[in-house]
Amino acid sequence: MTDPTANPLAKLNRQHIKQHFSHAAPSYDEAAVLQKTVADRVDERLSLTTIETHTILDIGAGTGFLTEKLIARYSNANIFAIDLSFSMLQQAQPRLKQARFPQLGNALNQTLNKTLGQTLTQKTAATAINADAYQLPFADQSIDLITSNLMLQWCDDLDAVFQEFRRVLRPEGLLMFTTFGPDTLKELRQAWKEADPKQEHVNQFIDMHDIGDALIRAGFGQPVMDVERFTLIYDQPIKVLKDLKAIGATHANKNRGQGLMGKTRFQTMLNAYEAQRQNKKIPATYEVVHGHAWASSEQLKGPNRNKSRHIELSLEAFSQQVKRQK
Ligand SMILES: C[S@@+](CC[C@H](N)C(=O)[O-])C[C@H]1O[C@@H](n2cnc3c(N)ncnc32)[C@H](O)[C@@H]1O
Repeated sequence: MTDPTANPLAKLNRQHIKQHFSHAAPSYDEAAVLQKTVADRVDERLSLTTIETHTILDIGAGTGFLTEKLIARYSNANIFAIDLSFSMLQQAQPRLKQARFPQLGNALNQTLNKTLGQTLTQKTAATAINADAYQLPFADQSIDLITSNLMLQWCDDLDAVFQEFRRVLRPEGLLMFTTFGPDTLKELRQAWKEADPKQEHVNQFIDMHDIGDALIRAGFGQPVMDVERFTLIYDQPIKVLKDLKAIGATHANKNRGQGLMGKTRFQTMLNAYEAQRQNKKIPATYEVVHGHAWASSEQLKGPNRNKSRHIELSLEAFSQQVKRQK
């Protein structure tokens, strides 16, 4: 008999996740400063890869920060923005369009775009699909590139989701993603621990080594992982919570207590967070895990490999490694 508590992360409620993001969809863009920055970082990394792309999936596309970049970068590809929340995809609509002069090729469009901007029409450049990352409505081996920016932290069964990504990727197709690591929101987690030690109030995030292992188990080759740390600073602890709510990142644990949280307990948490003030500001740490891997069984051999069969390297080393693969 399997122990349902064996995987500490196997307890996210997908229905809650969908509801939270749908509710937050109108306020998402304004608060999602980090998500936008990280989407830019993913785009920078894509600039270092050479991969033939006909069909691309951006999974957990949200309001389309990364999809918009993909449209600009891969102007001839079929791009699909996939999200569990229909409302997020509705917000993405303006970004999924691209100014084009009707009936003309892309190179010409770009020239005309500059001179005749006002006469251009909007054409849908990416297709929005309301679907779950665990069940992609695509055929086996039909996709060249999968991107996913800050969605995987909402998937408690990484093995299943990576297997699904692997299923749809063609041989030598590329998966490039970001997710959050365990240090993310460590100040808020600590504050809650002091105020309410028996209950979990902040989602848990998987360590990058475990993510790398899950990629290998799903049949990916050459996984490369690294971590980038960001600290957002706020005037008040309550602002951290407001921002999290505005982007839909509210706690989605199935075991979460249903009762109303006492005001005293909430205030104790705010006080505990306040005690972590540094240089007159309230910090909120984000550990962003960047990863990419290829849909091939070949696994990277080399000096940086550790026991968990994936490598860790800096962005500089990453670009060197990608150049070598060209
Ligand atoms: C933090 S947002 C990131 C959105 C976007 N990638 C960005 O960078 O702004 C996470 C998104 O993942 C979506 N999501 C969560 N779980 C999902 C799943 N199982 N399948 C598809 N989308 C999912 C949410 O609805 C939300 O839009």
